Amino acid sequence: MDLLLGQVLSYTGDPFALGEAAARHLTRGAVLVDAGRITQVGEAADLRARHPQARIHDYGSALISAGFVDAHAHYPQTAIIASWGKRLIDWLNLYTFPEEMRFSDPAYADEIAGRYLDLVVANGTTTVCSYTTIHPASVDAIFSAARARGMRVFAGKTCMDRNAPEGLRDTAGSAYDDSKRLLEKWHGQDRLSYVITPRFSPTSTPEQLAALGALWREYPDCLMQTHLSEQTDEIAWVKDLFPQSRDYLDTYEAQGLLREGAVYGHAIWLTDREKARLAEAGAAVVHCPTSNTFIGSGLFDMGLARQVRVGLASDTGGGSSFSMLRTMAAAYEVAQLRGQALHPAQLWWLATQGSARALRAEDRIGNIAPGMEADLAVIDLASTPAIAQAAARAETLWQQLFPTIMMGDDRAVKAVWIGGKRAGQARMPGLLPEK
Ligand code: GUN
Ligand code: ZN
Repeated sequence: MDLLLGQVLSYTGDPFALGEAAARHLTRGAVLVDAGRITQVGEAADLRARHPQARIHDYGSALISAGFVDAHAHYPQTAIIASWGKRLIDWLNLYTFPEEMRFSDPAYADEIAGRYLDLVVANGTTTVCSYTTIHPASVDAIFSAARARGMRVFAGKTCMDRNAPEGLRDTAGSAYDDSKRLLEKWHGQDRLSYVITPRFSPTSTPEQLAALGALWREYPDCLMQTHLSEQTDEIAWVKDLFPQSRDYLDTYEAQGLLREGAVYGHAIWLTDREKARLAEAGAAVVHCPTSNTFIGSGLFDMGLARQVRVGLASDTGGGSSFSMLRTMAAAYEVAQLRGQALHPAQLWWLATQGSARALRAEDRIGNIAPGMEADLAVIDLASTPAIAQAAARAETLWQQLFPTIMMGDDRAVKAVWIGGKRAGQARMPGLLPEK
């Protein structure tokens, strides 16, 4: 039994509905962890007295939070992050596709999968929902690496049967067969979940989308992830490729790829019909702010959070950071440009429970409460001189937290707990030395 002491931040509701009243803050709190789960949360003095036998981890005035949940990433793009470029389609052709080609080598896939998960954990992220490449071994690589680290990870084979280079295309039939085999192999093993993954409508024929829609009907408890309305030229291309469709979302809907459990990345340029259908269907959208600014895609409308489940994500490597702190900062800046000032309680919630809800995993991860899995990030709120001097003036938790949101990076991540174990000790020797 482990007892973590520090400031504790958790949520009892949705801050987009309730404001900061949705958050619960303990200045000198404690989280009791046993057998991989959070068993109690309360005042430090109280829990210490009640559990004298527990191992104590006193994090002082650092903040104990749920580990971050990154709801949309491409782990195969780890090594091409921050590549200078132009628009989405150029960027895909110039950097992404050549790099994804390298994943035909399973050893390379294993190397990048391990490196990627170590990078995200060092940034306080304990769950990711990732794309892979068309190669089945790229799925084995990320799930094996996640299993070795005890992480709850979502991933699936990226399917593309057109408008991608030779060597990076499957077919409708092979996408179905490979996805099904990988799903049966991995879904529900340890903390792993398979996600049916057509990359996006421009790289899938209607036949491939239909085959994956059929697969989803066979395994309805899986998630399905894809991209939606990221750039205006992409949308024009979809219109050419799918002349019968009412809009971009309809290209998915027509093939059985819209319902609860659908997770659409970006979703910037939505029509009113698309917004209404997303809400009605119970689907989720994922805001990828560092990517949307880096690739020049557009400004996500956070007003959507009142209608549909919204998650937050790095979109590595279209996004320019592995850090969900940096991602929160970018979400704040993007919202500012739309006149939507996001409260720190909302930003932090998006990076934890909001993303967990988008992945329909909010009953297990993304919050600190009895019964939840013990995936935790311990955040130093004075990790650099610049942050420390700004936080020193704070009178509330939110004022203390905001400089870390805006300026923090992996130096702010003091410790990470995954499934009730301290990352960097038993499972990951070498990583995350005690700070
Ligand atoms: N749309 C289709 N594929 C991708 C991708 O890899 N990254 C981004 N940002 N958008 C995409
Ligand atoms: Zn993406």
